[in-house]
Amino acid sequence: LHNLVIVGITGRMGQAIVRALGQQSSLRLSGAVASPGSARLGRDAAAEGAPTGVKVTADLAQVIAGAAVAVDFSSGAAVAEHARICAEAGVPTLIGATGFDAAAREVLTEAARKIAVLVAPNTSLGVAVMSGLVARAAQTLGPSFEVEILEAHHRHKRDAPSGTALALGQAVASARGQALGEVSNPNRGAGGARGPGSIGFAVLRGGDIVGEHTVTFIADGERIEITHRATDRVIFARGALEAAAWLAAQPPGLYGMREVLGI
Ligand SMILES: NC(=O)c1ccc[n+]([C@@H]2O[C@H](COP(=O)([O-])OP(=O)(O)OC[C@H]3O[C@@H](n4cnc5c(N)ncnc54)[C@H](OP(=O)(O)O)[C@@H]3O)[C@@H](O)[C@H]2O)c1
Repeated sequence: LHNLVIVGITGRMGQAIVRALGQQSSLRLSGAVASPGSARLGRDAAAEGAPTGVKVTADLAQVIAGAAVAVDFSSGAAVAEHARICAEAGVPTLIGATGFDAAAREVLTEAARKIAVLVAPNTSLGVAVMSGLVARAAQTLGPSFEVEILEAHHRHKRDAPSGTALALGQAVASARGQALGEVSNPNRGAGGARGPGSIGFAVLRGGDIVGEHTVTFIADGERIEITHRATDRVIFARGALEAAAWLAAQPPGLYGMREVLGI
């Protein structure tokens, strides 16, 4: 059994991963990390159900020693610091949290010289397959089809557009030989006419929506929509554990979910 550290343990994803761990045979929880201000420091990692015997701590540097792999589902603002600590300890890490900036991405790239880093804004198998379909459609249809991406999430989600929506936009841009930063319009709702070749993002927030993404290819006279709807966080949790087990055995480098799944 490989020792696993979960960062962001008290959150929606942290708890979904603890529940899914029961069905995963190659990983065992060895560390559970929350923020220094967490209300659950010193309590068991499982907020409900059978206790894990692992206590919540804010000290990642301490619990990472001796671990085989970490998964980080805390927040975009914290992933760079966590990745630095993992690199220092020589422990591979899966970045599941989204909403990090360009400076944090550079820190992740730097960490990937020392450890295996998997940047996985969406750990479901379904979205990985969707991303492949979207890339294929973008390449085959070409620039005469205009691309818009709509995503919907629960009322608590902080970043927008979602990390998954941006990754789908990246898949379109790469397939067309564009840089996403040069063609994306992250807030189509702000108005203005549509520039040629741009990729527009639109966002819905409310209720308990787990996560929905639609990539629409629009031409005069026809339209293609490719949609993924998540109805249960367990899909992300299972995928994260599978990916973490894979990552534990990888040499230093920067990886994505398509490499984990071989697609
Ligand atoms: N990759 C995927 O498939 C996937 C799927 C769903 C969500 N996500 C992403 O995963 C992240 C978490 O989502 P969520 O819905 O679980 O959010 P959440 O319920 O708010 O949980 C985040 C947890 O991280 C902890 N945290 C915050 N800052 C921290 C820090 N500096 N150090 C350590 N722990 C910290 C918080 O614990 P305390 O408040 O107790 O300290 C909080 O409970 C988001 O970025 C989300 O977009 C990814």
